[in-house]
Parts: sequence; C-alpha cells; structure tokens
Amino acid sequence: MNRRRRIYEGKAKILYEGPEPGTLIQFFKDDATAFNKKKHGVIDGKGVLNNRISEYLFTHLNKIGIPTHFIRRMNMREQLIKEVEMIPLEIVVRNVAAGSLSERLGIEEGTVLPRSIIEFYYKSDQLADPMVSEEHITAFGWANPAELDDVMALAIRVNDFLTGLFLGVGIQLVDFKIECGRLYEGDMMRIILADEISPDSCRLWDIETKEKMDKDRFRRDLGGLVEAYSEVARRLGIINENE
Ligand code: C5P
Repeated sequence: MNRRRRIYEGKAKILYEGPEPGTLIQFFKDDATAFNKKKHGVIDGKGVLNNRISEYLFTHLNKIGIPTHFIRRMNMREQLIKEVEMIPLEIVVRNVAAGSLSERLGIEEGTVLPRSIIEFYYKSDQLADPMVSEEHITAFGWANPAELDDVMALAIRVNDFLTGLFLGVGIQLVDFKIECGRLYEGDMMRIILADEISPDSCRLWDIETKEKMDKDRFRRDLGGLVEAYSEVARRLGIINENE
C-alpha cells in the first residue's frame, strides 16, 4: 500500500511527496495513452522499463553537466527527484520528419531534416496541447525570454548527446519531447530537465531496419511494445540478454 501523499497524477506517472523537503517520488505506471487520451491501454511492464531507461539517460545527462531533476532510482517503479516549478511546455526536438510534423506539413516520414527543429506545445489537456510560438510563451508569461533561451540551449545539448548515445547502439533518434522546470536554490534559480526521457517520449528507429522501437507501436497498433522497449534497454546495457 502506498500511503504517501499524492501530489499529481498524469497519464503515465504519479508524483508523491518525497522523504525530504524539495524532493518528490516519481512513480511510473503501465498506462499508455495517445491522441490526447482518446486511446488508452495498460501494457504490463512498460513502467518498469521506462523507469530504468529514464534513470540511465538522466544519469548520463547529469554526468555531462546537463542539470536534471533525477536524484536516484528507488525501486522498480519509483525514482527520487528534485521538486521543481514546472514550465507548462512540451519541448519537441526533431531530427527526422515523423508524426505530427509529417502530417501537418506533408513531409514524408523518414526525411532527414536540414537541421534540427525545436517546437513548443502548451501543456493543456483541455486544449490538447496546442503548438505555440516563442511570442505566445513570452507574451503569456509561461517563460520569460532568458528562461526560454536556457530551455532551448538545454534542448539542443540533450539532442546532441542523445543522438550520439543512441547512434552508438544502432538506434536513430528521430525526435523526442522534454519538459523543464525552475529549480530554486537559495536566491538562485536555474532551468533544469524534468519529467522523463523514455521510448514513450522519443521516436527511436533501428538504424538498419527502421523498425520502430517506441510508443508509435502503441499509437499505430503495431504490437510488441514491451519487446521493443526491452530491446532499447538491452542495447543500452541496462538489462542483460536474458531479461
Ligand atoms: O506527435 P508528434 O510527432 O508531435 O511527437 C513528437 C515527439 O514528441 C515524439 O517523440 C512523441 O513521442 C513526443 N511527444 C510526447 N508527448 C506528447 C506529444 C509528443 O512525448 N504529448
């Protein structure tokens, strides 16, 4: 039984009060949703894999000096994180055309983009996360211009690092989504990476076969989601051959 105070419940995660002030516990559920919750499923074992994969990626990002909320993994489904004030944006970085970019602009899926593209979406279930511009973000005060510069710099660094990391294990990082928050330390504030990075929030394609190893397996009813996430974890050396 979990008797901790629940702070927030999202589509794939729950946040509980942490053991010390300024900390939270992030719990990874097996739930999968897509198309703004119009499609819902429960996929046994997904949460466990995402907890491990996100731990691995955030640990490496922390090591190379990209600040994240991750402190440590606590168990199969939970990690201890720093409490931040979330910026209400989804920041999407794209290297290859896919998903909503392909649909909106008619660019064939798989087309390598001339340069990486950053997009912003305003986090709102009610509005189905509409795409917004820097103008909207600063005009409505979701982030100020200096914060937005920090967010973009962070997104580019994450993209550079993860692109190389995945390439090394035969995976193409097509696109991904991050979320950022404000961490207050004394009278200092800095923007850090929050939420998760996992196959739920990235498009990952096998470099040779172009097979999808991400949540598109659920969105597009391709099946084999846990097998694909396990393969990502195996290639990164997080789990061994027999797991
Ligand atoms: O659907 P779209 O092509 O805009 O998604 C771009 C990237 O952002 C994909 O990797 C997708 O998994 C991720 N994403 C996400 N959460 C959302 C929307 C998109 O993780 N709510």
